[in-house]
Amino acid sequence: FEQPDSVVNTMRGRLLPSGQVVLGGIKEYLPDIKRCRRLIMVACGTSFHSAIACRQILEELSELPVVVELASDFLDRETPIFRDDVCLFISQSGETADTLMALRYCKPRGALTIGVTNTVGSSICRESHCGIHINAGPEIGVASTKAYTSQILSLLMFALTLSDDRISMGTRREEIIDALNNLPNLIREVLQLDEKVHEIAKQIYKEKSLLIMGRGFNFATCLEGALKIKELSYMHCEGIMSGELKHGPLAMVDEFLSICMVICNDNVYKKSLNALQQVVARKGSPIIIADKSVPENDLAGMKHILRVPKTVDCVQNILTVIPLQLLSYHIAELNGANVDRPRNLAKSVTVE
Ligand code: AGP
Repeated sequence: FEQPDSVVNTMRGRLLPSGQVVLGGIKEYLPDIKRCRRLIMVACGTSFHSAIACRQILEELSELPVVVELASDFLDRETPIFRDDVCLFISQSGETADTLMALRYCKPRGALTIGVTNTVGSSICRESHCGIHINAGPEIGVASTKAYTSQILSLLMFALTLSDDRISMGTRREEIIDALNNLPNLIREVLQLDEKVHEIAKQIYKEKSLLIMGRGFNFATCLEGALKIKELSYMHCEGIMSGELKHGPLAMVDEFLSICMVICNDNVYKKSLNALQQVVARKGSPIIIADKSVPENDLAGMKHILRVPKTVDCVQNILTVIPLQLLSYHIAELNGANVDRPRNLAKSVTVE
């Protein structure tokens, strides 16, 4: 519920009325960053999902290869790193051991390192060459929520700074900046779905399992929503790339399996509808999260539809994740779990 304000704090002083985006912490390094051969984002958990959420727009606006890595696996593989790589280490706490170790691995190999953290003075903040503070404000609960949306915003602004001299991208940049300026209002609108989400939670909180399906810009929402439900309510929940349905997960679908599908009117809309038809044909009855521009007819017969406002494709995932954050909260509460301190977890994972 703090997110209408935390996103404002993330953008404050950075989106200028002139249409320029200024990230003070990396300004001096921008010429080097623009010259790099590859962008690598390294993170764990929710922070990793924010990297997945922004990979596509970073590829589009930077025209560079963009690699996303789980810090633990990145270290296990002893991944090759070069002097002309730019590595971003995304971490709410700035203290996550695996992410910090990955930073310490990349630095001596000559890569430029950028910390994307919420904690001024944290280890990742101090040890990286430069950085972007996400400025979401202190996050108390173990489950990361406002930090996630602020991480996406920070990476979006990073993508915008990389493309500020590309005339051909002017229109695209403008539509993204307009969407960001309107974001707090749209988040307020999404939060009004809370009672509806609560009602859905009452119907599914005793289920053993929930699958969350989507693709494109909204795949990260599926992964992140599933992580929130797992960590808060201890229910088995999986985020599934709907393009992968026919390669395995479709076998699980029947009238008894709980499913949620994210369907937005973007470049993968037709494919998302196709996935919905495949699920319905196997008697699945999914909960739908859709933007308001999706025609009623395309969702005919669906029992639960959560409508979020329509925004630009690369910003839409900030709006689609919030109903799932609320859902995880309500399922956990209905099950009597402590939503601030889930069992077996710590806010900062400082061990490898
Ligand atoms: C998020 O809800 C989790 N508690 C967890 O996945 C977390 O995002 C992860 O441990 C990484 O933490 P960090 O962002 O502080 O590095």
